[in-house]
Amino acid sequence: MSTLELENISKSFGELTILDHLDLRVNDGEFVSLLGPSGSGKSTIFHLIGGLYQADHGTIRLDNEAINGKKGSISYMPQTPSLFPWRTVLENVVLSVELHQKPDKQKALEMLERAGLKDYANAYPHELSGGMRQRVAFVRSLLSPQSFICLDEPFSALDEFTRLEMQKWLLTIWEQERPSVLFVTHNIEEAIFLSDRILVLGSKPANVIKEFTIDFKRPRNEELTLTQEFLEKKKEIYQTLRGVLND
Ligand SMILES: Nc1ncnc2c1ncn2[C@@H]1O[C@H](COP(=O)(O)OP(=O)(O)OP(=O)(O)O)[C@@H](O)[C@H]1O
Ligand SMILES: [Mg+2]
Repeated sequence: MSTLELENISKSFGELTILDHLDLRVNDGEFVSLLGPSGSGKSTIFHLIGGLYQADHGTIRLDNEAINGKKGSISYMPQTPSLFPWRTVLENVVLSVELHQKPDKQKALEMLERAGLKDYANAYPHELSGGMRQRVAFVRSLLSPQSFICLDEPFSALDEFTRLEMQKWLLTIWEQERPSVLFVTHNIEEAIFLSDRILVLGSKPANVIKEFTIDFKRPRNEELTLTQEFLEKKKEIYQTLRGVLND
C-alpha cells in the first residue's frame, strides 16, 4: 500500500525551469493520470520520483518517507523501454523481482503470454519490434514487487487493438491488487478509461492547472467509452488541453 506526495518540487536544467513549486499527490490504491503538452515535464516528474534526477527544491515522499534521489522505491516504466540487450525477454521481465526474491518464472511466462509474447520468452530485445519491447517493459513493471507503479506512456507504440487489450489487462490487475498508479499518456480516452483522477499539466513551468475526478463505476468495460457521459468528459478535458496548447 502506497501514498505518494510531491511537495513544492522545483527542477531546472540550466536556465530552463521545468517544474516550479509543483504539488502532486496519489492516494493509496488510486489510479492517477497526467495529461499535458509534449515537453511540459511529465517524464521529468517520473525521473524525479524514480530517483534518477535530484530535485532543486522540495520533497518527494512515499508513505511519509522522503525518497528524493533514491532509486528502487517504486516500480518505474520509462518512456523508452530500457531492456538489457544481453538478457532474453524472460530474463528481462524477472529482473526487478530478482533483486528482492527468487522470481516466479511461471507467473512471468503467463504474463508474457497475456501480453502476446509467448513465443518470444527466449528471444533477445534486438529481435523484437518497438511495440513488443514496450510490452516487455510493461510486464516487467507489473512483476516488480513495489506497490507504487509509474508508467510513462506504456502503450504509445501499440496499435489500437493491442492497446485496448493492454488497458483492459492493466485494469484487471489493478482491480485485483490495487497498486497506486501514476500514469502518463497523451490519449484522453485512455486516461478516462483507466483513471480515478486526471491531472492536466500546463507548461513552462509545469503545474497542475486542472484536476478531473473520474467516477465511472468499476469494473469498467469498453462499452463505457461509447456512452454520452464518457464523451462529455472527453470533450471537457479536450477543451482544457487545447487551452493549454494555445497558451
Ligand atoms: N536531462 C535533461 N537535460 C536538459 N533538459 C532536459 C533534460 N530532461 C528533460 N529536459 C527538458 O525538460 C523539458 C521537459 O521534458 P520531459 O521529457 O519531462 O517532457 P514530457 O512532458 O515528458 O514530454 P513528452 O510528452 O514529449 O514525453 C523539455 O524541454 C526537455 O528538453
Ligand atoms: Mg515524456
